[in-house]
Amino acid sequence: MKHILYKRHPIAPPWHERIVLDDRRELLMRPIDPADAPCLREGFALLTPDEVRMRYQHPMKSLSEDYVQRLTHPRKGREFVLVLAEPLPPGEALIGAVARLSQTDGSRDAEFAILVSHFIAGRGLGLLLMKKLVQRARRCGLESIRGDVLEDNTAMLHLAEQLGFVRESGPEAGLVRVRLTLAVREETLHQARELAH
Ligand SMILES: CC(C)(COP(=O)(O)OP(=O)(O)OC[C@H]1O[C@@H](n2cnc3c(N)ncnc32)[C@H](O)[C@@H]1OP(=O)(O)O)[C@@H](O)C(=O)NCCC(=O)NCCS
Repeated sequence: MKHILYKRHPIAPPWHERIVLDDRRELLMRPIDPADAPCLREGFALLTPDEVRMRYQHPMKSLSEDYVQRLTHPRKGREFVLVLAEPLPPGEALIGAVARLSQTDGSRDAEFAILVSHFIAGRGLGLLLMKKLVQRARRCGLESIRGDVLEDNTAMLHLAEQLGFVRESGPEAGLVRVRLTLAVREETLHQARELAH
């Protein structure tokens, strides 16, 4: 990472932090809240078509009600969603970034998805959020994290590479699958089973 253009202030580690950007804007890193739904829809409208295409792999005009409902209500022990938001209560705070980890049923593998909007991109926040997802995956005793990335998404491919993800053949033409394999210790597996119940 060439530039880290923010300062971190732990609030309730590891998932709650106050982040102060180099231009003094403040953000709160926290798990998503059901009350974030309307602000997620508003935030989506501010994204560029290219950001939307890179994240969802096809053009989209808006987020469906069903999708927003699922995103704001992660399945306990299976899904984890972190946001970077304005330091206001959920429901009032605009959301600048969303990072999601979703465990595939019947496996110890999870899929990641991330979007850091152009308003706050290029400061190292994507790297920070991806590290948090990796931390979460390790705590849950997962064996690997994977993501499907458009082959022209150099930003995400570089970011994944920095974290040690390796490229696999994609599920379809135009997509590259990146995967990070995690070493799993028996005691972590035990803790993860307890967490899930
Ligand atoms: C990809 C994305 C998450 C990067 O977030 P970010 O906060 O800007 O990334 P960071 O500032 O943490 O950069 C980390 C690394 O990512 C890579 N990167 C980021 N922006 C880049 C760019 N424009 N070109 C090439 N590499 C880039 C670099 O490796 C960078 O490290 P470096 O500064 O040492 O070169 C963000 O651009 C984004 O959300 N894009 C749209 C949605 C998307 O592509 N999601 C991923 C698919 S799931």
